[in-house]
Parts: sequence; C-alpha cells; structure tokens
Amino acid sequence: MDFFETISKRSCYRGEFSDVPVSRDVLTKVLEAGILAPSACNKQSPSFIAIDDPSILAKIADVLQAPVCSTAKAMIVCVSDSSPVYGEISFYKEDCAAAVENMLLALTALGYSSVWLDGVLRREGKAEKIAEFLGVPADKRVQIVLPIGVPATDGPKAQRLPFERRAFFNAWGGR
Ligand SMILES: Cc1cc2nc3c(=O)[nH]c(=O)nc-3n(C[C@H](O)[C@H](O)[C@H](O)COP(=O)(O)O)c2cc1C
Repeated sequence: MDFFETISKRSCYRGEFSDVPVSRDVLTKVLEAGILAPSACNKQSPSFIAIDDPSILAKIADVLQAPVCSTAKAMIVCVSDSSPVYGEISFYKEDCAAAVENMLLALTALGYSSVWLDGVLRREGKAEKIAEFLGVPADKRVQIVLPIGVPATDGPKAQRLPFERRAFFNAWGGR
C-alpha cells in the first residue's frame, strides 16, 4: 500500500474482529515498525509485549472491559520507561506515541486494524493489573494497548477539521 494511502486508511476500530488470525510474522513486522520509531536522544524508552496467547488475551480483555478487546486476535502492549533522558526531562509519552503511530500504520498497511487504548488504562488501576500479570518490571508502566485483528464490520471513520482550520503557511492564519 502506498504510504499516503496507508495514512488516510488508518483509523481506530472499536468493533468486533473477524476470525482471521494474526501471525507471528505480522506481529514481528509491526514490532519492528515500533522499534524503528524516533525517540528522544535515541534512548528508545518504549518496550513492547506482543500477546498472541488466547488465555492472556482473555485476561487483558477482562481487565479492560472494552468490547473491541474481547474479539482481538492479538494485542501489543506498549511499556514506557519514564527515566529522564535529557537533564531532568523524560519524553516517555512522546516516545510511546511515536512508536504506536508507526505500529498503527504498519498494521493498516498489512490489512489489520486496531485502536489506541490509553485513557481506559488510567482508570481503576487497570494498567497496573495488566503490568502485574505480564511481569512488567516495577520501574516501567503499561502505557498503551493495541488490540489487533481484521475488522468484521465497517467502523465509522472519524472526520478531520478542514485543512484551513489547522494548517498555515509562514504565520498563524497564513495562506
Ligand atoms: C493519546 C491518545 C489516547 C487515546 N486513547 C483512547 C482510548 O483510551 N480509547 C479509545 O477508544 N481511543 C483512544 N484514542 C483514539 C482516538 O479516540 C482516535 O485516534 C480519535 O478519535 C481519531 O480517530 P481515528 O484514530 O480513527 O482517526 C486515543 C488516541 C490518542 C492519540
């Protein structure tokens, strides 16, 4: 798929997934895309856990209680490390975001869908519960979860504000 077509086709999918499995080859390619993302000072702070064991998928789905998770054929858990990398400054959220966007684009290019689950993890200790049964070290945090599969239905496509509202040339409001 052409790069710009991939960007425009990517969208967060929250519906049911079909029975099409997600192979280790696909997961490996997607993880490589995450690993290739830029990170502050190239400290490569995010790590990734790909899940394809049905019993672990079920445990994560049980914690998250998000309908999209119950039919996911695989998941990628993005684990952050908030250690400072530039003086006292840590860029762990930005590093995770860059990696996640690379992985979402890779999934789209390979014919799979996902959704960026972040907010839901921050409630009721859900991130901590998942971290515990995945054996994530105490100094790292489960930051983002990507449920993965081939959509069973057409999900809605989120719209964007018009170009002129968000993008300018040379100065704010410049045309
Ligand atoms: C930082 C961040 C956090 C997000 N957290 C969630 C989330 O917890 N649950 C969810 O369903 N979608 C989440 N999303 C997905 C956004 O809702 C989605 O990207 C947005 O509605 C635009 O839709 P699109 O990705 O389909 O273009 C998150 C996206 C970002 C960038």
